Amino acid sequence: MVALIQRLIRLVALLAACGSALAQGDAKRGDYLAKAGGCVGCHTAKGGTEFAGGYALKTPFGTFYGPNITPDPKAGTGKWSEADFIRAIRHGERPDGANYYPAFPYPSYTKINDADLKDLWAFLRTLPPSQVESKPHELHLPFRFRLLLSGWKLLFFTPGAMAADAKQPPVVNRGAYLTQALGHCGECHTPRNLLGGVKSSRFLAGGKGPEGKGIPNITPTKLKKWSDKDLIDFLTSGLTADGDVVAESMGEVITNTLSKLTPADLAAMIAYLRSIPALPDEKE
Ligand code: HEC
Ligand code: HEC
Repeated sequence: MVALIQRLIRLVALLAACGSALAQGDAKRGDYLAKAGGCVGCHTAKGGTEFAGGYALKTPFGTFYGPNITPDPKAGTGKWSEADFIRAIRHGERPDGANYYPAFPYPSYTKINDADLKDLWAFLRTLPPSQVESKPHELHLPFRFRLLLSGWKLLFFTPGAMAADAKQPPVVNRGAYLTQALGHCGECHTPRNLLGGVKSSRFLAGGKGPEGKGIPNITPTKLKKWSDKDLIDFLTSGLTADGDVVAESMGEVITNTLSKLTPADLAAMIAYLRSIPALPDEKE
């Protein structure tokens, strides 16, 4: 009897160990997903340690600094649990319950699925901890109050992982996920209203952009004039067919994300962009 109980206990312990091994994210996949999400860009100062924060993100609301997200217990996310991380990305909430500014593109990242969030977290845990303190944001007055963000979120934020569209083939669904969730292309390419909410009826149709400079329409209206090869060349090198070099903000997306995607993922993104409704350019 005692032997049987001991055997049972061992079996339960073994099952529990397998369970936790399965539940833990895969850091190698997470590394790729972090590239597909362009995380390094906003979380690395020019010339600084990767993911140790300090990148200045200039917006009409002021300057945001991407925080240190290495696993340092004081300066970074070392004391966080996986659940804290999932809550930050899926719900835009800090571990203490305060809201994040949408300069952190969680309105797109909320669409990342659970398995990918776990892998991203596993990857961040493998980074060398950096003790560099995160810089406080420098925002214009009314925007300094995080409390205002609960109103903004009520108006413009819908949390939840993305569901596949059963009417579309898997390649288009993969492309949609890479574009909308990880790649957060709409954060720049979809125009916004005065309160900074994206106009979803104008998805990826471009517009004035935060600094008043034009952001191109990337719906088929514009892209049908590009061959797949033109697009692949541009999205991996930043050079347009007529030899122009791309603007800095898109250049960073190309360096950090698009040039790092597997050829299959890049092709999926292009297939998706070709499948969305063709919208006319924004009227001035
Ligand atoms: C466009 C810039 C940008 C990108 C891209 C970006 N972040 Fe951030 N992130 C920010 C900013 C800005 C904040 C701080 C927001 C605030 O203080 O309200 C932040 C905050 C965070 C936090 C919370 C840190 C803390 O100390 O509270 C985590 C975790 C995080 N980002 C992870 C990620 C991951 C993972 C990715 C890639 C999937 C990513 N970020 C991509 C700008 C960005
Ligand atoms: C940080 C803002 C930002 C993000 C995020 C962003 N883009 Fe861009 N994108 C731009 C800007 C600005 C330009 C115009 C660059 C220029 O004309 O030099 C551009 C240009 C482009 C073009 C060329 C269009 C043309 O007609 O010239 C394509 C295609 C494109 N982006 C695709 C994407 C895709 C796909 C994603 C998501 C992975 C993405 N962009 C994410 C800012 C952004």
